[in-house]
Amino acid sequence: MEKHLLIDNVKIPMLGLGTWPMSGKECSDTVAAAINMGYRHLDTAQNYHNETEVGEGIRKSNTARDELFIVTKVSTRNLEPGLLARAAEESLGKLKIDYIDLLLIHWPTADMILEETLDAMFRLREQGKIRHAGVSNFSPALFREALDQGPVICNQVEFSPYKKQEDNLAVAREFNVMITAYTPLANGKVSRDIRLKEIGKSYEKSAAQVTLRWLLQLGNVSVIPKASSIQHLKENLEIFDFELSREDIKKISEIRY
Ligand SMILES: NC(=O)c1ccc[n+]([C@@H]2O[C@H](COP(=O)([O-])OP(=O)(O)OC[C@H]3O[C@@H](n4cnc5c(N)ncnc54)[C@H](OP(=O)(O)O)[C@@H]3O)[C@@H](O)[C@H]2O)c1
Repeated sequence: MEKHLLIDNVKIPMLGLGTWPMSGKECSDTVAAAINMGYRHLDTAQNYHNETEVGEGIRKSNTARDELFIVTKVSTRNLEPGLLARAAEESLGKLKIDYIDLLLIHWPTADMILEETLDAMFRLREQGKIRHAGVSNFSPALFREALDQGPVICNQVEFSPYKKQEDNLAVAREFNVMITAYTPLANGKVSRDIRLKEIGKSYEKSAAQVTLRWLLQLGNVSVIPKASSIQHLKENLEIFDFELSREDIKKISEIRY
């Protein structure tokens, strides 16, 4: 299976590392270890207060900037256009990079003027400070509204066997953009699920690997499991050497809780 999605002519690594709630040395060491193992997509946010450490981890890994896909998110207090531009500069400064691959609106708010916020993001794109604009925690209707305004390539939402996103996924497929699945392992709950473990047996894969693979095989999806243990980091990388049958995909898609 291909390890990248092709969205807006850009190759986006389907597997990323979630960095919340890591902080301090644990965060920079984990980011460096993950990159050295092969991770190429990193997810952080202003609200995680770890952009500095994510940047340290990136530098420690000695990996060329253009090999990495770095995602951060503007917090809800910075959605007004003037504040947004300043917040993006702050993220660039903390990460010590000169462009962000994908900047997301972390959460929509009731008083946000979506058109103005997105225009500010599109200006940052024209200035080369961000490569792509996206949103997070948007309903399918609001996601569609954002896509109608301009080049938005992603909606990052909670997505796991217990939290389905059929409607958001349908919008992403229609526009050929991406859903990034956060909390894809339901905070580790999937690894205790006997139904997922059972499916994994015939592939010699764990319930977590089966879950990540299911998400990727849905198409137009990237996943950002958080892992701090080396064992979990490795396990989550090993999802490209097997393929779930159509029957197993259906079984997982039918799980409701
Ligand atoms: N946009 C948003 O609003 C939003 C909201 C929440 C999260 N996020 C992003 O999504 C990322 C992931 O979500 P999350 O951290 O909430 O949940 P998650 O990735 O579903 O779960 C993380 C937990 O699963 C464990 N784990 C990792 N790999 C495993 C494996 N192979 N087998 C068993 N357990 C495993 C981790 O343990 P260890 O750490 O001990 O290895 C950790 O306890 C976050 O880090 C953040 O970047 C975004």
